[in-house]
Amino acid sequence: MTHRAAIIFRDGLTQFIQVEQNEKLLDAAFRHGIQLPLDCREGVCATCRGFCESGTIEMEYVDDEALSASEREQGYMLACQTTLTSPGSFYFDVDSSICNISQQHYRGQVSALTLLSDTVATLEITLEEGQPELHYLPGQYARIQIPGSKETRAYSYASASAQSAVVRFLVRLLPSGVMSDYLRQRCRVGDSIDFTAPFGAFYLREVKRPLLFVAGGTGLSAFLSMLESLAEQSDVQQPIALYYGVNRESEISEVERLDSLAERLGNFSYQVVVSDPGSAWQGKKGWVTQALESHLFQQPFDAYLCGPPPMIEATCSWLSSQPVAEHKVYFERFVSS
Ligand code: FES
Repeated sequence: MTHRAAIIFRDGLTQFIQVEQNEKLLDAAFRHGIQLPLDCREGVCATCRGFCESGTIEMEYVDDEALSASEREQGYMLACQTTLTSPGSFYFDVDSSICNISQQHYRGQVSALTLLSDTVATLEITLEEGQPELHYLPGQYARIQIPGSKETRAYSYASASAQSAVVRFLVRLLPSGVMSDYLRQRCRVGDSIDFTAPFGAFYLREVKRPLLFVAGGTGLSAFLSMLESLAEQSDVQQPIALYYGVNRESEISEVERLDSLAERLGNFSYQVVVSDPGSAWQGKKGWVTQALESHLFQQPFDAYLCGPPPMIEATCSWLSSQPVAEHKVYFERFVSS
């Protein structure tokens, strides 16, 4: 039996490998051309130290000097001593470049383009035949090369992370910009389009406690990928609350998908918050932090934030100043370009 492992580097690049039963993670990584840092290979020096983000593992020998009991409990591991008993993801605090890793390139074709509003579009790409298998963690992103140019832009996947030849992205359309101009003016179904992937340290960890998701604008994309991926699992019972902030009603996107996810997941609810609504808007008004209520977060939870820097900062500051339970925060700031 083999297990799939995601190896995530400090610069966000991620590689997926298959680990044989009883095979050490370090050896499996080497077999796939990933040269993780190592020295003793005996569980003593801690050079191969990483962090198990999800999955279950066993470690053969771990010297107390290499990892304390409390570090082991938190999830730290030694790749030279680790075997997998389930699929997992592992973070290593080194840049991918020193592990002999390069990005994976993909070629696909535009299979759908939908303008959801004057500022948001969904772009669907279907991989061409013969491309390498595409893997990513829900919340990660790809760098798409804009056809007819050498420029690239980063977009979070909006589709489930299960291996598929079809991927979707939510794209913010600016009044002018290389990707926005391409999508508005020249993009046609069937266009060839290249991208590299996967990237990003913002991805869904193993769900062990309630989740708070806060999205600003097309930051929603990463959460659609997380929610779609969760909906494909049958064992996630923790409550999930999404607060989705936009500036104007016209920017609200993918509400039907959110409704369908709420039906499929059962434990998921969401609120749209509009900062500058028209007079007809009946929903929540203001900044997304004004919709958060501390009494709803009295059990330990994990918070995931994705959107423009001011929204991330405001939410972090709300979380640290309000009487809420212990929590971990993961975030991705992005600026539209
Ligand atoms: Fe020394 Fe793994 S290489 S502990």
